[in-house]
Amino acid sequence: MANELEELRNAFNLSPDNVFIQKMYFNKLKEANQWAEAKPVLQRLLKAEPHEDGWKAEMGRLLYEMRSLSEGILFLEDVIGKGGRRPEYYCFLAKLYAREHSVDNANFYFNKLKREFPEYEDSELDDLFRQPVRQTTGYGRDEMEDDGAFEAQSVRSRKFEKMEKPDVSFKDVGGMEQLKEEIAMKIINPIKNADLFKEYGQTIGGGLLLYGPPGCGKTFIAKATAGEIDAAFFSVGLTDVLDMYVGQSEHNLKDIFDEARANTPAVLFFDELDALGGNRTDRKNSASRELINAFLQELDGVSGSNDGILFLGATNTPWYIDTAFKRPGRFGQAVFVAPPDVVAREEILSIHLKGKPVEEQLDLKKVAEKTVNFTGADLKSLVDLTIQDKLKEIMRTGKREPVSTKDLLKKCAEIHPSSNEWFETAKNYAIYSNQHGQYDDILKYLKIKK
Ligand SMILES: Nc1ncnc2c1ncn2[C@@H]1O[C@H](COP(=O)(O)OP(=O)(O)OP(=O)(O)O)[C@@H](O)[C@H]1O
Ligand SMILES: [Mg+2]
Repeated sequence: MANELEELRNAFNLSPDNVFIQKMYFNKLKEANQWAEAKPVLQRLLKAEPHEDGWKAEMGRLLYEMRSLSEGILFLEDVIGKGGRRPEYYCFLAKLYAREHSVDNANFYFNKLKREFPEYEDSELDDLFRQPVRQTTGYGRDEMEDDGAFEAQSVRSRKFEKMEKPDVSFKDVGGMEQLKEEIAMKIINPIKNADLFKEYGQTIGGGLLLYGPPGCGKTFIAKATAGEIDAAFFSVGLTDVLDMYVGQSEHNLKDIFDEARANTPAVLFFDELDALGGNRTDRKNSASRELINAFLQELDGVSGSNDGILFLGATNTPWYIDTAFKRPGRFGQAVFVAPPDVVAREEILSIHLKGKPVEEQLDLKKVAEKTVNFTGADLKSLVDLTIQDKLKEIMRTGKREPVSTKDLLKKCAEIHPSSNEWFETAKNYAIYSNQHGQYDDILKYLKIKK
Protein backbone atom coordinates (compact mmCIF):
# COMPACT_ATOMS: atom_id res chain seq x y z
CA MET A 1 0.00 0.00 0.00
CA ALA A 2 2.81 2.37 0.84
CA ASN A 3 4.23 1.53 -2.55
CA GLU A 4 0.99 2.27 -4.30
CA LEU A 5 0.79 5.61 -2.58
CA GLU A 6 4.38 6.33 -3.50
CA GLU A 7 3.66 5.51 -7.14
CA LEU A 8 0.58 7.71 -7.25
CA ARG A 9 2.50 10.52 -5.63
CA ASN A 10 5.15 10.29 -8.33
CA ALA A 11 2.53 10.12 -11.06
CA PHE A 12 0.77 13.17 -9.65
CA ASN A 13 4.00 15.13 -9.45
CA LEU A 14 4.68 14.30 -13.07
CA SER A 15 1.21 15.22 -14.34
CA PRO A 16 -0.56 17.28 -11.71
CA ASP A 17 -3.38 18.23 -14.09
CA ASN A 18 -4.40 14.69 -14.94
CA VAL A 19 -7.82 14.34 -13.33
CA PHE A 20 -7.75 10.56 -13.42
CA ILE A 21 -4.51 10.50 -11.45
CA GLN A 22 -5.82 13.18 -9.10
CA LYS A 23 -8.79 11.00 -8.25
CA MET A 24 -6.72 7.86 -7.69
CA TYR A 25 -4.19 9.78 -5.61
CA PHE A 26 -6.86 11.55 -3.55
CA ASN A 27 -8.68 8.32 -2.79
CA LYS A 28 -5.49 6.67 -1.68
CA LEU A 29 -4.61 9.57 0.60
CA LYS A 30 -8.10 9.53 2.04
CA GLU A 31 -7.78 5.84 2.76
CA ALA A 32 -4.52 6.57 4.56
CA ASN A 33 -5.98 9.54 6.48
CA GLN A 34 -3.32 11.79 4.99
CA TRP A 35 -5.48 14.86 5.04
CA ALA A 36 -2.87 17.57 4.79
CA GLU A 37 -1.39 15.99 1.68
CA ALA A 38 -4.85 15.35 0.27
CA LYS A 39 -5.97 18.96 0.51
CA PRO A 40 -4.12 20.44 -2.51
CA VAL A 41 -5.14 17.43 -4.59
CA LEU A 42 -8.77 17.92 -3.69
CA GLN A 43 -8.48 21.62 -4.48
CA ARG A 44 -7.38 20.68 -7.99
CA LEU A 45 -10.29 18.26 -8.32
CA LEU A 46 -12.70 20.98 -7.22
CA LYS A 47 -11.29 23.26 -9.87
CA ALA A 48 -11.41 20.57 -12.53
CA GLU A 49 -14.98 19.51 -11.80
CA PRO A 50 -16.59 22.53 -10.18
CA HIS A 51 -20.12 21.22 -10.63
CA GLU A 52 -19.42 17.95 -8.91
CA ASP A 53 -20.94 18.40 -5.46
CA GLY A 54 -19.29 15.20 -4.33
CA TRP A 55 -15.92 16.99 -4.23
CA LYS A 56 -17.35 19.82 -2.17
CA ALA A 57 -18.68 17.29 0.26
CA GLU A 58 -15.28 15.62 0.34
CA MET A 59 -13.77 19.01 1.09
CA GLY A 60 -16.23 19.48 3.95
CA ARG A 61 -15.17 16.17 5.39
CA LEU A 62 -11.47 16.89 4.87
CA LEU A 63 -11.82 20.22 6.61
CA TYR A 64 -13.51 18.43 9.47
CA GLU A 65 -10.53 16.10 9.76
CA MET A 66 -8.22 19.11 9.66
CA ARG A 67 -10.38 20.95 12.19
CA SER A 68 -11.14 23.89 9.94
CA LEU A 69 -14.62 23.86 11.31
CA SER A 70 -16.39 26.89 9.95
CA GLU A 71 -14.89 26.40 6.51
CA GLY A 72 -16.00 22.78 6.49
CA ILE A 73 -19.51 23.80 7.51
CA LEU A 74 -19.70 26.19 4.55
CA PHE A 75 -18.88 23.44 2.04
CA LEU A 76 -21.36 20.96 3.44
CA GLU A 77 -24.15 23.48 3.98
CA ASP A 78 -23.66 24.46 0.36
CA VAL A 79 -24.02 20.89 -0.87
CA ILE A 80 -27.05 20.17 1.33
CA GLY A 81 -28.59 23.52 0.45
CA LYS A 82 -28.56 22.45 -3.19
CA GLY A 83 -30.48 19.32 -2.35
CA GLY A 84 -27.59 16.98 -1.59
CA ARG A 85 -29.02 14.15 0.47
CA ARG A 86 -26.49 11.61 1.59
CA PRO A 87 -25.92 10.26 5.05
CA GLU A 88 -22.22 11.23 5.00
CA TYR A 89 -23.15 14.85 4.44
CA TYR A 90 -25.41 14.97 7.47
CA CYS A 91 -22.96 12.96 9.50
CA PHE A 92 -20.01 15.26 8.91
CA LEU A 93 -22.07 18.39 9.27
CA ALA A 94 -23.37 17.15 12.62
CA LYS A 95 -19.80 16.40 13.67
CA LEU A 96 -18.57 19.79 12.52
CA TYR A 97 -21.27 21.56 14.46
CA ALA A 98 -20.70 19.38 17.48
CA ARG A 99 -17.01 20.30 17.44
CA GLU A 100 -18.02 23.93 17.10
CA HIS A 101 -20.24 23.58 20.18
CA SER A 102 -23.22 24.60 18.14
CA VAL A 103 -25.71 22.46 20.00
CA ASP A 104 -28.93 23.16 18.12
CA ASN A 105 -27.42 22.71 14.69
CA ALA A 106 -25.53 19.59 15.69
CA ASN A 107 -28.71 18.07 17.05
CA PHE A 108 -30.64 19.07 14.00
CA TYR A 109 -28.36 17.24 11.55
CA PHE A 110 -27.87 14.30 13.85
CA ASN A 111 -31.61 13.83 14.12
CA LYS A 112 -32.05 14.30 10.40
CA LEU A 113 -29.51 11.60 9.75
CA LYS A 114 -31.13 9.17 12.15
CA ARG A 115 -34.53 9.88 10.71
CA GLU A 116 -33.68 9.68 7.02
CA PHE A 117 -30.96 7.06 7.17
CA PRO A 118 -31.65 4.99 10.27
CA GLU A 119 -29.31 2.24 9.07
CA TYR A 120 -26.29 4.50 8.69
CA GLU A 121 -23.61 4.03 11.25
CA ASP A 122 -20.57 6.03 12.18
CA SER A 123 -18.93 5.11 15.40
CA GLU A 124 -17.18 8.44 15.81
CA LEU A 125 -20.47 10.29 15.47
CA ASP A 126 -22.13 7.96 17.93
CA ASP A 127 -19.25 8.52 20.29
CA LEU A 128 -19.68 12.23 20.05
CA PHE A 129 -23.40 12.12 20.62
CA ARG A 130 -23.86 9.14 22.82
CA GLN A 131 -20.89 9.50 25.06
CA PRO A 132 -21.64 7.69 28.28
CA VAL A 133 -21.40 10.02 31.20
CA ARG A 134 -17.88 10.12 32.49
CA GLN A 135 -16.32 12.46 34.93
CA THR A 136 -13.88 14.84 33.42
CA THR A 137 -12.05 17.64 35.03
CA GLY A 138 -14.22 20.70 34.72
CA TYR A 139 -16.53 21.30 31.86
CA GLY A 140 -15.97 18.55 29.33
CA ARG A 141 -17.40 20.32 26.37
CA ASP A 142 -15.33 23.43 26.75
CA GLU A 143 -12.26 21.33 26.66
CA MET A 144 -12.77 19.90 23.21
CA GLU A 145 -9.38 20.26 21.75
CA ASP A 146 -8.21 19.93 18.22
CA ASP A 147 -5.84 17.15 19.08
CA GLY A 148 -7.72 14.56 17.12
CA ALA A 149 -8.43 12.55 20.21
CA PHE A 150 -11.88 12.27 21.54
CA GLU A 151 -11.42 11.74 25.21
CA ALA A 152 -11.98 15.40 26.02
CA GLN A 153 -15.46 15.26 24.63
CA SER A 154 -17.07 13.18 27.28
CA VAL A 155 -19.94 14.91 28.88
CA ARG A 156 -19.60 16.44 32.26
CA SER A 157 -21.75 14.64 34.74
CA ARG A 158 -23.87 17.46 35.98
CA LYS A 159 -25.32 17.08 39.35
CA PHE A 160 -28.28 19.32 39.53
CA GLU A 161 -27.36 21.83 42.15
CA LYS A 162 -30.08 24.36 42.17
CA MET A 163 -31.83 23.64 45.37
CA GLU A 164 -33.17 26.72 47.11
CA LYS A 165 -34.92 27.38 50.36
CA PRO A 166 -37.11 30.37 49.54
CA ASP A 167 -37.74 32.97 52.21
CA VAL A 168 -41.16 33.96 50.90
CA SER A 169 -44.38 32.26 51.90
CA PHE A 170 -48.10 32.53 51.19
CA LYS A 171 -48.43 35.66 53.31
CA ASP A 172 -46.26 37.49 50.76
CA VAL A 173 -48.58 36.57 47.93
CA GLY A 174 -51.67 38.73 47.57
CA GLY A 175 -54.93 37.19 46.38
CA MET A 176 -54.89 33.79 44.62
CA GLU A 177 -57.02 32.30 47.37
CA GLN A 178 -58.33 29.47 45.25
CA LEU A 179 -54.91 28.51 44.00
CA LYS A 180 -53.48 28.61 47.49
CA GLU A 181 -56.18 26.23 48.56
CA GLU A 182 -55.54 23.82 45.68
CA ILE A 183 -51.88 23.78 46.54
CA ALA A 184 -52.66 23.33 50.21
CA MET A 185 -54.74 20.25 49.46
CA LYS A 186 -51.99 18.72 47.39
CA ILE A 187 -49.00 19.21 49.61
CA ILE A 188 -49.42 21.40 52.67
CA ASN A 189 -52.33 19.63 54.33
CA PRO A 190 -51.09 16.12 53.49
CA ILE A 191 -47.78 16.93 55.18
CA LYS A 192 -49.41 18.39 58.25
CA ASN A 193 -51.99 15.62 58.49
CA ALA A 194 -50.08 12.66 57.13
CA ASP A 195 -52.12 9.97 58.89
CA LEU A 196 -55.44 11.35 57.83
CA PHE A 197 -54.47 11.63 54.20
CA LYS A 198 -52.97 8.17 54.23
CA GLU A 199 -56.15 6.73 55.65
CA TYR A 200 -58.04 8.21 52.74
CA GLY A 201 -55.49 6.83 50.34
CA GLN A 202 -54.04 10.17 49.29
CA THR A 203 -50.41 10.68 48.44
CA ILE A 204 -48.42 13.81 49.10
CA GLY A 205 -47.74 15.90 46.04
CA GLY A 206 -49.07 15.88 42.51
CA GLY A 207 -48.99 18.42 39.78
CA LEU A 208 -50.50 21.72 38.71
CA LEU A 209 -50.02 23.71 35.57
CA LEU A 210 -50.14 27.46 36.13
CA TYR A 211 -50.88 29.56 33.11
CA GLY A 212 -51.64 33.18 32.46
CA PRO A 213 -50.17 36.52 31.46
CA PRO A 214 -46.67 37.51 32.54
CA GLY A 215 -46.15 39.13 35.90
CA CYS A 216 -49.15 37.64 37.68
CA GLY A 217 -47.18 35.71 40.22
CA LYS A 218 -46.76 32.20 38.81
CA THR A 219 -43.08 31.99 39.69
CA PHE A 220 -43.72 33.86 42.89
CA ILE A 221 -46.38 31.49 44.21
CA ALA A 222 -44.29 28.46 43.28
CA LYS A 223 -41.48 29.79 45.46
CA ALA A 224 -43.88 30.79 48.22
CA THR A 225 -45.29 27.26 48.25
CA ALA A 226 -41.89 25.86 49.07
CA GLY A 227 -41.36 28.58 51.68
CA GLU A 228 -44.72 27.85 53.24
CA ILE A 229 -43.79 24.27 54.12
CA ASP A 230 -40.05 24.80 54.36
CA ALA A 231 -39.63 22.50 51.40
CA ALA A 232 -36.77 22.35 48.95
CA PHE A 233 -37.38 24.37 45.83
CA PHE A 234 -35.98 23.48 42.43
CA SER A 235 -36.55 25.76 39.50
CA VAL A 236 -35.88 24.01 36.22
CA GLY A 237 -35.54 25.67 32.85
CA LEU A 238 -35.00 24.24 29.42
CA THR A 239 -31.31 25.01 29.49
CA ASP A 240 -30.85 22.94 32.63
CA VAL A 241 -32.02 19.92 30.72
CA LEU A 242 -31.21 20.23 27.06
CA ASP A 243 -27.93 18.84 25.91
CA MET A 244 -26.75 18.11 22.44
CA TYR A 245 -25.61 14.66 23.32
CA VAL A 246 -28.27 12.12 22.66
CA GLY A 247 -29.29 10.59 25.91
CA GLN A 248 -27.63 13.29 27.98
CA SER A 249 -30.74 15.47 28.21
CA GLU A 250 -32.68 12.52 29.55
CA HIS A 251 -29.89 11.93 31.99
CA ASN A 252 -29.99 15.55 33.18
CA LEU A 253 -33.72 15.29 33.65
CA LYS A 254 -33.38 12.16 35.71
CA ASP A 255 -30.72 13.87 37.86
CA ILE A 256 -33.13 16.68 38.60
CA PHE A 257 -35.93 14.34 39.61
CA ASP A 258 -33.53 12.27 41.71
CA GLU A 259 -32.33 15.38 43.52
CA ALA A 260 -35.91 16.29 44.34
CA ARG A 261 -36.65 12.72 45.44
CA ALA A 262 -33.69 12.85 47.78
CA ASN A 263 -34.91 16.12 49.31
CA THR A 264 -38.61 15.69 49.96
CA PRO A 265 -40.81 17.51 50.63
CA ALA A 266 -39.90 19.36 47.50
CA VAL A 267 -41.42 21.71 44.99
CA LEU A 268 -40.16 21.00 41.50
CA PHE A 269 -40.95 24.00 39.40
CA PHE A 270 -40.76 23.89 35.62
CA ASP A 271 -40.72 27.44 34.39
CA GLU A 272 -41.72 27.98 30.79
CA LEU A 273 -42.96 24.46 30.47
CA ASP A 274 -43.90 25.14 26.85
CA ALA A 275 -40.22 25.00 25.94
CA LEU A 276 -39.76 21.65 27.59
CA GLY A 277 -43.12 20.04 27.01
CA GLY A 278 -44.18 21.93 23.92
CA ASN A 279 -46.06 20.45 21.01
CA ARG A 280 -44.27 22.81 18.68
CA THR A 281 -43.37 21.65 15.25
CA ASP A 282 -40.20 23.67 15.54
CA ARG A 283 -38.24 20.98 17.29
CA LYS A 284 -34.93 22.48 16.39
CA ASN A 285 -35.05 24.71 19.40
CA SER A 286 -37.06 22.67 21.80
CA ALA A 287 -37.15 19.27 23.35
CA SER A 288 -37.18 16.10 21.28
CA ARG A 289 -39.87 13.47 21.38
CA GLU A 290 -37.52 11.17 23.30
CA LEU A 291 -36.94 13.81 25.91
CA ILE A 292 -40.64 14.48 26.27
CA ASN A 293 -41.25 10.78 26.75
CA ALA A 294 -38.53 10.59 29.35
CA PHE A 295 -40.06 13.60 31.09
CA LEU A 296 -43.48 11.94 31.13
CA GLN A 297 -42.00 8.77 32.58
CA GLU A 298 -40.29 10.69 35.37
CA LEU A 299 -43.57 12.44 36.15
CA ASP A 300 -45.25 9.05 36.27
CA GLY A 301 -42.64 7.90 38.77
CA VAL A 302 -41.32 5.09 36.61
CA SER A 303 -37.78 5.36 37.94
CA GLY A 304 -38.56 6.35 41.53
CA SER A 305 -41.39 7.39 43.79
CA ASN A 306 -42.61 10.95 43.48
CA ASP A 307 -44.31 10.90 46.84
CA GLY A 308 -43.67 14.18 48.61
CA ILE A 309 -42.98 16.15 45.46
CA LEU A 310 -45.25 18.87 44.14
CA PHE A 311 -44.78 19.53 40.45
CA LEU A 312 -45.62 23.00 39.33
CA GLY A 313 -45.36 23.98 35.71
CA ALA A 314 -45.74 27.55 34.49
CA THR A 315 -46.40 28.89 31.03
CA ASN A 316 -47.70 31.93 29.20
CA THR A 317 -48.70 29.72 26.27
CA PRO A 318 -50.75 26.78 27.51
CA TRP A 319 -51.91 26.12 23.95
CA TYR A 320 -48.39 24.95 23.13
CA ILE A 321 -48.23 22.33 25.85
CA ASP A 322 -48.36 18.73 24.72
CA THR A 323 -51.67 17.28 25.90
CA ALA A 324 -49.86 14.29 27.40
CA PHE A 325 -48.60 16.62 30.12
CA LYS A 326 -52.09 17.56 31.12
CA ARG A 327 -53.19 14.06 32.03
CA PRO A 328 -54.09 13.31 35.65
CA GLY A 329 -51.09 12.47 37.77
CA ARG A 330 -48.85 14.71 35.73
CA PHE A 331 -49.61 18.42 35.52
CA GLY A 332 -53.20 17.26 35.80
CA GLN A 333 -54.99 20.47 36.57
CA ALA A 334 -54.46 23.65 34.65
CA VAL A 335 -55.02 26.73 36.76
CA PHE A 336 -55.51 30.16 35.27
CA VAL A 337 -53.46 32.71 37.17
CA ALA A 338 -55.32 35.88 36.28
CA PRO A 339 -54.39 39.44 37.05
CA PRO A 340 -55.53 40.18 40.60
CA ASP A 341 -59.06 41.38 41.31
CA VAL A 342 -59.71 44.54 43.28
CA VAL A 343 -59.40 42.89 46.69
CA ALA A 344 -56.17 41.16 45.71
CA ARG A 345 -54.77 44.37 44.25
CA GLU A 346 -55.28 46.13 47.53
CA GLU A 347 -53.53 43.30 49.31
CA ILE A 348 -50.61 43.25 46.86
CA LEU A 349 -50.16 47.02 47.19
CA SER A 350 -50.12 46.71 50.91
CA ILE A 351 -47.59 43.84 50.79
CA HIS A 352 -45.22 45.89 48.69
CA LEU A 353 -45.65 49.03 50.82
CA LYS A 354 -45.09 47.17 54.05
CA GLY A 355 -42.54 48.86 56.29
CA LYS A 356 -42.28 51.96 54.09
CA PRO A 357 -43.29 55.43 55.32
CA VAL A 358 -46.89 56.00 54.20
CA GLU A 359 -49.47 58.60 55.19
CA GLU A 360 -51.87 57.64 57.94
CA GLN A 361 -55.03 57.84 55.86
CA LEU A 362 -53.59 55.90 52.96
CA ASP A 363 -56.55 54.72 50.86
CA LEU A 364 -55.30 51.64 49.05
CA LYS A 365 -58.84 50.63 48.16
CA LYS A 366 -59.07 53.68 45.98
CA VAL A 367 -55.77 52.87 44.30
CA ALA A 368 -56.89 49.27 43.81
CA GLU A 369 -60.04 50.50 42.09
CA LYS A 370 -57.97 52.62 39.74
CA THR A 371 -55.65 49.78 38.70
CA VAL A 372 -57.97 47.49 36.75
CA ASN A 373 -56.03 44.91 34.70
CA PHE A 374 -52.77 45.65 36.51
CA THR A 375 -50.71 42.56 37.15
CA GLY A 376 -48.89 41.85 40.41
CA ALA A 377 -45.69 42.96 38.72
CA ASP A 378 -47.36 46.18 37.53
CA LEU A 379 -48.49 46.91 41.07
CA LYS A 380 -45.02 46.28 42.38
CA SER A 381 -43.56 48.69 39.88
CA LEU A 382 -46.27 51.23 40.74
CA VAL A 383 -45.05 51.13 44.32
CA ASP A 384 -41.37 51.22 43.32
CA LEU A 385 -41.78 54.16 40.95
CA THR A 386 -43.90 56.14 43.40
CA ILE A 387 -41.26 55.69 46.06
CA GLN A 388 -38.53 56.76 43.67
CA ASP A 389 -40.44 59.93 42.84
CA LYS A 390 -40.99 60.58 46.51
CA LEU A 391 -37.28 60.30 47.21
CA LYS A 392 -36.46 62.66 44.36
CA GLU A 393 -38.89 65.15 45.81
CA ILE A 394 -37.36 64.84 49.26
CA MET A 395 -33.91 65.41 47.77
CA ARG A 396 -35.18 68.55 46.12
CA THR A 397 -37.16 70.03 49.01
CA GLY A 398 -35.30 68.55 51.94
CA LYS A 399 -38.68 67.78 53.51
CA ARG A 400 -39.46 64.20 54.53
CA GLU A 401 -42.94 63.27 53.40
CA PRO A 402 -44.62 59.86 53.52
CA VAL A 403 -46.09 58.24 50.40
CA SER A 404 -49.67 59.43 49.91
CA THR A 405 -52.73 58.12 48.11
CA LYS A 406 -52.37 61.03 45.72
CA ASP A 407 -48.79 60.05 44.84
CA LEU A 408 -49.90 56.53 43.98
CA LEU A 409 -52.91 57.65 41.97
CA LYS A 410 -50.78 60.06 39.98
CA LYS A 411 -48.32 57.31 39.06
CA CYS A 412 -51.17 54.88 38.08
CA ALA A 413 -51.98 57.01 35.11
CA GLU A 414 -48.45 56.59 33.80
CA ILE A 415 -48.41 52.79 33.91
CA HIS A 416 -49.86 50.77 31.10
CA PRO A 417 -51.26 47.41 32.29
CA SER A 418 -48.88 44.86 30.83
CA SER A 419 -51.29 41.96 30.43
CA ASN A 420 -53.40 43.51 27.66
CA GLU A 421 -51.26 42.11 24.91
CA TRP A 422 -51.41 38.61 26.32
CA PHE A 423 -55.19 38.73 26.47
CA GLU A 424 -55.35 39.71 22.80
CA THR A 425 -53.74 36.39 21.90
CA ALA A 426 -55.37 34.33 24.60
CA LYS A 427 -58.81 35.54 23.55
CA ASN A 428 -58.42 33.89 20.16
CA TYR A 429 -57.46 30.54 21.63
CA ALA A 430 -60.23 30.77 24.20
CA ILE A 431 -62.84 31.44 21.53
CA TYR A 432 -61.62 29.26 18.69
CA SER A 433 -59.84 26.35 20.28
CA ASN A 434 -61.51 25.83 23.59
CA GLN A 435 -61.85 22.04 23.54
CA HIS A 436 -63.49 20.67 26.68
CA GLY A 437 -63.84 24.20 27.98
CA GLN A 438 -60.18 24.32 28.94
CA TYR A 439 -60.05 28.09 28.57
CA ASP A 440 -63.40 28.91 30.15
CA ASP A 441 -61.61 30.80 32.90
CA ILE A 442 -60.10 33.15 30.35
CA LEU A 443 -63.52 33.77 28.80
CA LYS A 444 -64.96 34.38 32.25
CA TYR A 445 -62.23 36.85 33.05
CA LEU A 446 -62.85 38.68 29.78
CA LYS A 447 -66.61 38.51 30.39
CA ILE A 448 -67.17 36.80 27.07
CA LYS A 449 -70.21 34.54 26.89
CA LYS A 450 -69.71 31.09 25.38
N1 LIG B 1 -50.01 38.01 43.94
C1 LIG B 1 -48.88 38.70 44.13
N2 LIG B 1 -48.58 39.18 45.36
C2 LIG B 1 -47.46 39.88 45.55
N3 LIG B 1 -46.57 40.18 44.62
C3 LIG B 1 -46.81 39.73 43.37
C4 LIG B 1 -47.97 38.97 43.07
N4 LIG B 1 -47.95 38.67 41.77
C5 LIG B 1 -46.81 39.20 41.28
N5 LIG B 1 -46.13 39.85 42.25
C6 LIG B 1 -44.86 40.57 42.08
O1 LIG B 1 -44.52 40.57 40.71
C7 LIG B 1 -43.27 39.92 40.51
C8 LIG B 1 -43.32 39.14 39.21
O2 LIG B 1 -44.17 38.03 39.34
P1 LIG B 1 -43.79 36.60 38.76
O3 LIG B 1 -42.39 36.61 38.29
O4 LIG B 1 -44.15 35.58 39.75
O5 LIG B 1 -44.74 36.55 37.53
P2 LIG B 1 -44.97 35.33 36.52
O6 LIG B 1 -46.43 35.07 36.48
O7 LIG B 1 -44.08 34.22 36.87
O8 LIG B 1 -44.55 36.01 35.17
P3 LIG B 1 -43.90 35.31 33.88
O9 LIG B 1 -45.03 34.64 33.18
O10 LIG B 1 -43.37 36.49 33.14
O11 LIG B 1 -42.85 34.38 34.36
C9 LIG B 1 -43.07 39.06 41.72
O12 LIG B 1 -41.71 38.85 41.98
C10 LIG B 1 -43.74 39.86 42.82
O13 LIG B 1 -42.87 40.84 43.31
MG1 LIG C 1 -42.38 33.41 35.89
